[in-house]
Amino acid sequence: MSIPRSVVAGVGSYLPARVVTNDDLAKFVDTSDEWIVERSGIRQRHFAADGELTSDMALKAAEAALVHAQMDAQDIDLIVMAPTTPDNTFPASATTVQAALGIHHGAAFDIQAVCSGFVYAVSIADNFLKAGQFKNALVIGAETFSRLLDFEDRTTCVLFGDGAGAIVLSASEGEGGVADRGVLTAHLHSDGRHKEKLYVDGGPSSTQSVGHVRMIGRDVFRHAVVNIADVINEALEATGLTIADINWFVPHQANKRILDGTAKRIGLPEEKVVMTVGEHGNTSAASVPLALDKAVKDGRIKRGDLVLLEAMGGGFTWGSALIRW
Ligand code: UT7
Repeated sequence: MSIPRSVVAGVGSYLPARVVTNDDLAKFVDTSDEWIVERSGIRQRHFAADGELTSDMALKAAEAALVHAQMDAQDIDLIVMAPTTPDNTFPASATTVQAALGIHHGAAFDIQAVCSGFVYAVSIADNFLKAGQFKNALVIGAETFSRLLDFEDRTTCVLFGDGAGAIVLSASEGEGGVADRGVLTAHLHSDGRHKEKLYVDGGPSSTQSVGHVRMIGRDVFRHAVVNIADVINEALEATGLTIADINWFVPHQANKRILDGTAKRIGLPEEKVVMTVGEHGNTSAASVPLALDKAVKDGRIKRGDLVLLEAMGGGFTWGSALIRW
C-alpha cells in the first residue's frame, strides 16, 4: 500500500557569534559556574548581537537547510516557524523569512508552543504535506530568548540562549510501514492549567509590553520527566516499535538532569542521547533542530536511522515525533 510521507530532505542551523559563559553571568548575577553546571549541565550559551533578530537567525538556518537538501528556495511552498520570540507581535516572522528567501507563493506562518514549538511545527507541516496541500516545507525553530530574560532573576537568566535550526520536509510516497523514511508518527499535548508555572509576564493584550520569563523550575522539572516519558511511549505504541529500535534520541535541551532522568526512565542508553545543552543552554523552540543539525553534520545520524524527538514547554505543551531519517 502506498501512503504519503514527509521525508527530511535537509537540515541546517545557526548560532550567533557571541558566547556567554557561566563565569560571564556570575560577574553581574548572584550565581556560580558550579551551581549552573551541577543543576542544569549548562556551561555556556550564545546571545544574539545587538540588532540581530530572530528572523535573521532563522533565515541563516533555513538557507543552510536548503543547501543541505540541494534544493532551491523556490521549491518551498510552506514555511512553519515556531518562535516564542518573534521580531514583532505581527506579522509572523515566517513571512519575513519567506520574503528574504524571495518566495512569493505558498504560505508562511508562525505557531506558538514555546519550547515544544519545533515538535508542534513538524507535526503541522507533516499533516499539510500528507494531505497533499503543499509539497516542500521549511520547518524552523528560532529564538532570541535572551531578550525575554530578567537579568536580575538568577533562577531563569542563567538557563536560556539564542539560536536557530531548520529542516526541509518533502512530500514523498511510502509503503505504510515503519521501514518508510519520513515522519512515522507525531503526538501533541497541552494542559493550560499549568500556565503559572512557566510564562512571560507581559504581552499586547495584558500589559502592552514584552515582559520577562517567569518559571517555577522545580514544578516544571517534575512534570517534564513524567510527560516526556509518557509521550515517548505513545509514539512507540503507535508504531509498534520499542526503545531498542531507536538509533538517536534528540530531546529538547532544557536541563541535562531532565534528559538523564528521561533516558533512564525509558531505558535508553546514554550514548544514544544527543546532548547540546552544555554548549547552547535552553534555546526553546530552536534546541531540537540545533541538536539535529549537530548530530547529522558530525555523522551520527545517518539515512535510515530511527530518530526520536520530544519537547516540553510553557502551557504546558509537550510532544514527540518519530522520524526515519
Ligand atoms: O524549556 C522549558 C522547560 N524548562 C525546564 O524544563 C526547566 C526545568 N527546571 C529546571 O531545570 C530546574 O528546576 C532548575 C535548573 C531551574 C533549578 O534547579 P533545582 O534543582 O530545581 O533548584 P531549585 O529551584 O530548587 O533551587 C535550589 C536553590 C535555591 O536556594 P534555596 O531556596 O535552596 O536556598 C535557589 O534560590 O538554588 C538557588 N538558586 C541559585 N543559586 C545559584 C536558584 N538559581 C540559582 C542560581 N545560582 N542561578
